[in-house]
Amino acid sequence: MVSRQSSVVNIEVPPYWEELNLEGLSGVLMVIGAPDTGKSTFARYLYTRLCALHERVAFIDGDIGQASLGPPTTMTLVLRQSGEVGFPPGGPRVRVFVGANSPRGHMLPTLIGVYKLVRRAQELGATVTVLDTTGLIGPEQGGPALKQAKVDLLEPAVVFAIRQGNELEPILGPLRHSARTRVVELPAAPAVRPRDKVARRAHRARLFARYFANAYPLEISWARLAVFPAPRFSRYQLVAMEDRRGFALALGIVLEADPARKTVLLLTPAHSLNNVDALRVGDVGVNPETWEDTRMDENDRRLADAGRLNHSSACAW
Ligand SMILES: Nc1ncnc2c1ncn2[C@@H]1O[C@H](COP(=O)(O)OP(=O)(O)O)[C@@H](O)[C@H]1O
Ligand SMILES: [Mg+2]
Repeated sequence: MVSRQSSVVNIEVPPYWEELNLEGLSGVLMVIGAPDTGKSTFARYLYTRLCALHERVAFIDGDIGQASLGPPTTMTLVLRQSGEVGFPPGGPRVRVFVGANSPRGHMLPTLIGVYKLVRRAQELGATVTVLDTTGLIGPEQGGPALKQAKVDLLEPAVVFAIRQGNELEPILGPLRHSARTRVVELPAAPAVRPRDKVARRAHRARLFARYFANAYPLEISWARLAVFPAPRFSRYQLVAMEDRRGFALALGIVLEADPARKTVLLLTPAHSLNNVDALRVGDVGVNPETWEDTRMDENDRRLADAGRLNHSSACAW
């Protein structure tokens, strides 16, 4: 197969990407596919092509696991700055915190988060928004329900479906017959390099390490803040500081919590509580020595609630 290097560093562009006619496309362009099919790479390529056609272009990294523009557990919107070429865009960044590194068990925050970012992109004047998504596609994990719900809610002009075989049929079957979006199917690029579970975990740890590189302990008195879903903090639990619209201003890792004083000590790159309206407690813990994440399941929380674990040992490590 003939392919050439694109202006986007290190991307091999298959001819069937170059043949895509993007003129006249606007609104949300959603990229879906299984893990390791080249979704994020294609989404970046799409973004750079659209920069030649639109002034205000937005990119949403909607993958809360193998994130590209922010720490895992979050989704990030970035806007192109005027006249800018290349990726990543250097304009304003807006973030939402889902609190988990997979949509499994977190469908509502995933859907709400992506909706908030798409709406924000429109408010900020984007005429076209590229939306990169997670690789959750399996029917047994609710993949088709989530992807179809996103299509219903976000009304993308096009769904670019990157496929290897028939794995996307449960999602695409009904969409192909519906006028609510246009499905463009593309084979996975030959240059895709799969990542195994260990590499994915290491990638997430690197992203957390980068995010918390300049973090310091900050004590927060939460007595006057909203705490979602409830003020229960476990050691190393990930917490977001949110503004009044529910966008994440910063993340923090719980170092200590004092329920009696209603304070929590967070390791965070944030310097102040300016504009903080709420804390949102996630379902993931991050060890600040290794930056490895651990899923905190409902069982840990129930035990913590019942007082059978003290708050410093409620994490699963
Ligand atoms: N067209 C391409 N050219 C070069 N490398 C690619 C291409 N597509 C994917 N890759 C590589 O394969 C790996 C997985 O691709 P990625 O876009 O992250 O997949 P996904 O988002 O579906 O998980 C990455 O290391 C990426 O650099
Ligand atoms: Mg990706």
